Amino acid sequence: MPPRPSVVVLATFIALSFLLLFHQFSFSSPSYYRDVFTRSRSLKAWLNDEEERYMALIQDRQQLIRKWGPTEVEVQPYPSHNKLYTLWDFFIPAFQCPHRVERIGTLGDGGKWTCGVDRIAKQDKCVIYSFGVNNESSFEADLLRRAPGCEAWGYDYSVDRWGPEVYNDPELEPRAHFEPWALGGSNHHEDHDYPRYWTLDSLMELNGHTFIDILKIDIEGGEFDALTSFVTAHAEGDLPVGQLQLEIHARAGRERFEYFNKWWASLEAVGLRPFWTEPNMVYINIVRGAAPELAEYSFINIRGNHALLNEAFN
Ligand SMILES: *[C@@H]1O[C@H](CO)[C@@H](O)[C@H](O)[C@H]1NC(C)=O
Repeated sequence: MPPRPSVVVLATFIALSFLLLFHQFSFSSPSYYRDVFTRSRSLKAWLNDEEERYMALIQDRQQLIRKWGPTEVEVQPYPSHNKLYTLWDFFIPAFQCPHRVERIGTLGDGGKWTCGVDRIAKQDKCVIYSFGVNNESSFEADLLRRAPGCEAWGYDYSVDRWGPEVYNDPELEPRAHFEPWALGGSNHHEDHDYPRYWTLDSLMELNGHTFIDILKIDIEGGEFDALTSFVTAHAEGDLPVGQLQLEIHARAGRERFEYFNKWWASLEAVGLRPFWTEPNMVYINIVRGAAPELAEYSFINIRGNHALLNEAFN
């Protein structure tokens, strides 16, 4: 005699409940997080989750533009009164880095917020590019000390070497390369050019690099052209950068909101996501009464295959 239908239903229900319970348990147990394969899924899940949040933020930005514009053409970056925002409020670091976030380099001007330096330090080889040296290299020196596999390439046409933190340390000097050149949106580096401008892609080609783990840029406003050219060149495919520490100089009389907004969106379009920002208070303090034109941002690249995204790096 075949079993009664109600018995079959009950048995199936009990079996499913056990399966679900076990599933639940195995996902929340500590061993789940230790397991390399499953942990990789959790990193991916984290990134997806953050990306969802970030897309919501972009909607919020449009709403804020409608509020103060109503279009981007009318938004003033630094309104003088009765408008409770500045440029920076449209561009908040809403993406959380999935690894340890820490400040590297000196406190005060020169130190930078980074994501997952432990992971980068575990690599046999890694590449740091630094534009804008200005006789201060505490960030690069601390990175090189933390990551013995790293080498740094520095560029600044206004000085002729790294800052003392690097040149006074014989351990670091051999891993730190310097040229008195400028980063630009196009190449102008003939003998008669001053400063000599190189695009980031041309420098990478010159040095034989296909990827930069940590890219620091502090070039007094040159970041607009330089990064536009870089992201345009990589509109297809992945941006060959793991993370970017960028000081942005959005001058009150120069960068219109509309321009800034489009430029920022071009960084987002290639997968750069800001995970940290701080206004440059040192500047605010020195230039009293100026608009808050300078801000530090740190971005991770959420595309490609690198130490911050790679599941095998646990
Ligand atoms: C660079 O900085 C060091 C100390 O931080 C200082 O002694 C030196 O005079 C500076 N050099 C220049 C050219 O400003």
